[in-house]
Amino acid sequence: MLSYQHAFHAGNLADVHKHALLATALARLTDKPKPLSYLETHAGRGLYDIASAEARRTGEAQAGIARALAEGWLPAAHPLRAALQAVRARHGPGAYPGSPLIAGHFMRPGDAARLAELHPAEYAALATNAPWADLRHEDGFAMANALLPPTPRRGLLLIDPSYEVKADYDRLPGWVDRMARKWNVGMIALWYPILADARHAAMADALAAAHPEALRSEVGFPPARPGHGMVGSGMFVINPPYGLADEAARLAAIYSGL
Ligand SMILES: C[S@@+](CC[C@H](N)C(=O)[O-])C[C@H]1O[C@@H](n2cnc3c(N)ncnc32)[C@H](O)[C@@H]1O
Repeated sequence: MLSYQHAFHAGNLADVHKHALLATALARLTDKPKPLSYLETHAGRGLYDIASAEARRTGEAQAGIARALAEGWLPAAHPLRAALQAVRARHGPGAYPGSPLIAGHFMRPGDAARLAELHPAEYAALATNAPWADLRHEDGFAMANALLPPTPRRGLLLIDPSYEVKADYDRLPGWVDRMARKWNVGMIALWYPILADARHAAMADALAAAHPEALRSEVGFPPARPGHGMVGSGMFVINPPYGLADEAARLAAIYSGL
């Protein structure tokens, strides 16, 4: 357990899909002055370096965010591009923001961020990178269960597990249902990998059956290496904001050409 290290994968094609939707949702939520809660069950370290040895070893950021920028996938006014530019202005041209720093770009005084990360080294890095947030060195599922519904009552929960155990796929539909019942006005976003062996499919189908109004955004892409199991990225969003389906369709059109 806890062997997954996002530093090898940060800024890959799955991150670009997930983070473009996350930033779009946060931009929409913060275009009204009412305060919001941002919660995250699996935060990671918050800040990555796409020139690091880890990133260079896989080449995934080059095939992901570097290609996205070179080919203009993110228009000038795109919220992810704004967050990326702000983080690079502060941390250098190789910086890539994880979801906590993307959220941090949009948070205003009065908004509340509560982020869980279980891995000791990732948590320590997150404490350095996101000192403004309420950070929890604990299981993210337990944190969400304890805090929902949050105060302020409007906002977003991102669930971004590393799917290291198959049981994650089995338990997530029921767990997400319970969280959605506890926080019926909250936006709840679950990221999942699209796998060549279709291990994700039963989970995504169960979620869609239980939440027919939700947004199911799935994009495919070539595997990072021959034989690599991940061939796409999925985001399931309960209570999506206005405009998120359009962004999902825009991304799907780009990814369908890869
Ligand atoms: C996919 S990464 C997170 C990436 C991040 N959300 C982003 O988009 O930048 C998943 C993280 O979850 C952490 N993790 C694994 N199991 C956890 C748990 N039960 N509770 C909290 N964090 C956990 C891992 O250490 C890892 O840093």
